[in-house]
Amino acid sequence: MANMKVTIAGVEFRNPVIAASGTFGFGREYSELYPLSNLGGVSCKGTTLEPRLGNPAPRIAETPSGMINSVGLQNPGIDFVVKYEIPWLAGQDTRIVANIAGNTPEDYAAVAEKLNDTAADMVEMNISCPNVKHGGAAFGTSCDAAAAVTRAVRKVCRKPLMVKLSPNASNIGDIAAAVEAEGADAVSLINTITGMRIDLRTRRPILKNNTGGLSGPAVFPVALRMVWEVANRVKIPVVGMGGISKWEDAVEMLLAGASAIQVGAANFTDPYACIKILSGLEKYLDDNGIAGVSDLTGKVEPW
Ligand code: FUM
Repeated sequence: MANMKVTIAGVEFRNPVIAASGTFGFGREYSELYPLSNLGGVSCKGTTLEPRLGNPAPRIAETPSGMINSVGLQNPGIDFVVKYEIPWLAGQDTRIVANIAGNTPEDYAAVAEKLNDTAADMVEMNISCPNVKHGGAAFGTSCDAAAAVTRAVRKVCRKPLMVKLSPNASNIGDIAAAVEAEGADAVSLINTITGMRIDLRTRRPILKNNTGGLSGPAVFPVALRMVWEVANRVKIPVVGMGGISKWEDAVEMLLAGASAIQVGAANFTDPYACIKILSGLEKYLDDNGIAGVSDLTGKVEPW
């Protein structure tokens, strides 16, 4: 059997398949379907300093080969997550990636600091949520803002720090380089791409927020291109995500330069998606005599 272990920023994952933030809650519901120890890790729902109810409904719409959401970072707040969700996840024998968000660099730093003495293995700083008026993608689309928030969090964060990047930036490679320069240990990408649907009968946007973030298989080629671009730009590890729905996508993402992958929207169409992708990946490695999954990382041979 191929070696499935990967190491990101000093954290060893038993395999490279991580459930993506915002599609897996804190793992409780999925744990009723399969042991979370099958996964490399779980990235928790983006957590803020204070609890948030999120945006008004409707906040989900279907699209060809995907969906758009405008959830608006609904979450129970960091104190609840530290007290109940992380201790529960710590009993599931999987890596815990604590995804954090905020309105200001100070907010992000305060949330990160509260994670220092928890069982979280890694902090994933979300500077790419397209659905909030303050913070989110506003930090992820400007090099200066991305650098400033990374600097603020790096000062207080004692966990490995991964920054989740926005595809809505015109210069994602520059943003990746900016956060690397401020001490990020890894980057993950892509978050969703801002999109819109309109109801023909009412002539109103389907989402109450007017716009939302597009995810699902439709975004995969964009994600792949951005992962390739970023992996060629920075030295820190890249975790690739965006529309991965089958094992073949995972292989492409690793070849493009990802050290691990996250599976998001696919969990909604098939709650066993992560497990199926993992077993397809294992079979591919074995069928092709590849000793370890890390041997695929960055091995695309561009023309
Ligand atoms: O609206 C949301 O909660 C989405 C978050 C994200 O895409 O980071």
